[in-house]
Amino acid sequence: MSTSSTTTNVAVPPSPAFSAGAHVPSMDAYESQWKRSIDDPEGYWGEVAADSHFFKKWDRVLEWKLPFAKWFAGAETNVSYNCLDFQIENGRGDHPAIIWEGEPVNDDGTPKDTLTLSYRQLHARVCQFANALKKQGIQKNDRVTIYMPMVPELAIAMLACARIGAPHSVIFGGFSGQAIADRLVDADSRHIITTDGGWRRGKVIPLKQNVDEACKLVDGKVDKVIVLKRCENEIQWEADRDVWWHEAIDGMSEDCPAERLDAEHMLFLLYTSGSTGKPKGILHTTAGYMIYTRHTAKHVFDLKPDDVYWCTADIGWITGHSYIVYGPLQNGVTNVMYEGGPNYPDWERFWQICDRYKVTKFYTAPTAIRAFMKQGAELPKKHDLSNLKLLGTVGEPINPAAWNWYDENIGGGRCPIVDTWWQTETGGIMITPLPGATPTKPGSATRPFFGIDPAVVDASGAPVPPNESGLLVIRKPWPGMLRGIYGDEARYRKQYWTEIDGCYFTGDGARCDEDGYFWIIGRVDDVIKVSGHRLGTAEIESALVSHPKVAEAAVIGYPDEMTGEAIAAFVTLKSGFEVDESLKQELKQHVGSTLGAIAKPKDVRFTDALPKTRSGKIMRRLLRELATTGHVKGDITTLEDLTTIATLNSEAS
Ligand code: WT7
Repeated sequence: MSTSSTTTNVAVPPSPAFSAGAHVPSMDAYESQWKRSIDDPEGYWGEVAADSHFFKKWDRVLEWKLPFAKWFAGAETNVSYNCLDFQIENGRGDHPAIIWEGEPVNDDGTPKDTLTLSYRQLHARVCQFANALKKQGIQKNDRVTIYMPMVPELAIAMLACARIGAPHSVIFGGFSGQAIADRLVDADSRHIITTDGGWRRGKVIPLKQNVDEACKLVDGKVDKVIVLKRCENEIQWEADRDVWWHEAIDGMSEDCPAERLDAEHMLFLLYTSGSTGKPKGILHTTAGYMIYTRHTAKHVFDLKPDDVYWCTADIGWITGHSYIVYGPLQNGVTNVMYEGGPNYPDWERFWQICDRYKVTKFYTAPTAIRAFMKQGAELPKKHDLSNLKLLGTVGEPINPAAWNWYDENIGGGRCPIVDTWWQTETGGIMITPLPGATPTKPGSATRPFFGIDPAVVDASGAPVPPNESGLLVIRKPWPGMLRGIYGDEARYRKQYWTEIDGCYFTGDGARCDEDGYFWIIGRVDDVIKVSGHRLGTAEIESALVSHPKVAEAAVIGYPDEMTGEAIAAFVTLKSGFEVDESLKQELKQHVGSTLGAIAKPKDVRFTDALPKTRSGKIMRRLLRELATTGHVKGDITTLEDLTTIATLNSEAS
């Protein structure tokens, strides 16, 4: 997706009022700290880490043997301790940590279910659940799968795992039973935490049912399923495997000392899509991730003790891990958490929530902003958004029109906007404005965070001149970086460290302008971003060919006004099967049940053959062109079968 055609290069500085009170109040302050962080990373990060709690100090800030980093080697710490105990020690015990509201509403529009937990109360619940986990046989190093809606118990479960040193693997509630099964097997995880269901757009999502299906698929490999009661819906029960959350915590002590964990102890796995094969388990460890999320959250959102911070992401994605759970809690702020859809019961829900809890910092995705834009500026106007001080965006390039709409209609023209570029792999925000310092240009993620050394290079690794597009790489290790792909060192090396010699390869295309501002163009591999959700074309293709009528399938992303990119599938059928409209629906449904609703193609097209090069590679460029413009021009001389394109062209018109 290109953002360049409608952008201006005029940078607007933050208001003097915002800068005056900000952690980083000027570009000079930013430049000098950034330079220091690059020239002396060990000195810089050592000083930053001194503000966190360690049971034992590190021997060395960084040990770097490309592509393997050890940050704070030799140290012992615990992320759950830093999010909870350390906050209480610092006088934050009675401060609200989480303000939650569920989706269902009463007749007068107020939420049916709400819960506020102070840091002390959250601590007690985490300890109690951590003891319950131990009682259920979960030990340090056991991978625990978590598949839950956005309820406080999701954060409690993660913090309880972190407390006892059991790495969590959170799976987004939109994924199917098959997707859960694949992740269970890859992580060799024998324990699942789930709920009977979750509310989404007025309906119950049958989470427990999906877990049951996954358990069946992995055939007896799951020892325990802990089930939180959320929806009062009917579920199946396996008495020797399933245990209710409320029964598991019954009688458990609210005291559970945090394990002293090695700095490089595995904190979590988070599965994400790559260009080939099945999703990969991105591995993050303890101390580096902890320091990086704390430090980025503080500076990017300019967090202050009284902030009421709301990130609308789902915790099933990295954004929720880093900027709902671990980053904000380490900063002792109040987190707003909401269970359901932005349009339930109507499109005012988000603005009601901002108004009700006096939200000061708000972080969402471009897709959501575009959806709000479509509903009109009247809706946010009906609510008091005057407490907002800062707005953030993440997940995909933001088009300047959406940026400007967000600025005017949500931020009232007075809030800095932070367009934050990062990835599941990076653990935290990498390229971003610092709100009190960086003049912003709509559509640009602007400048690197402290300690981050990005560059735009060509295929040989040579930096390209300003304003020319190339590949985005990171030239130095950083504390929040992934430590590997779980169980697959070769893929880790190949995916991230061999494309451009000596650098971390992001998979994104970008350009850098004459002011050193980065403009992210989008993925250069076969990863697509649909509503900010990351999907691999290969996994959707294999879902399609698992349908009995499908012979071959090619999936591409094409630009979509609302969702950024949309999925188009080109399908050939096995002989003897007829093309008809109902089969299109059937195939969309099939992808939905194999992977999850977020992976359903918007457009399915049938063709006699797929355009291929002589060596048998599918010519995706042609398919993308076809899906985007409706026809194909340009060089097709290497096509195996020119008639394919003729068929596709006539199909499209
Ligand atoms: C991909 C990573 C980072 C949390 C959510 C996504 C795209 C992310 C931006 C942005 C343009 C962005 C990139 C990246 N992306 N943020 N501000 N501007 N593109 O994490 O699911 O791992 O996806 O999202 O293409 O590679 P993810």
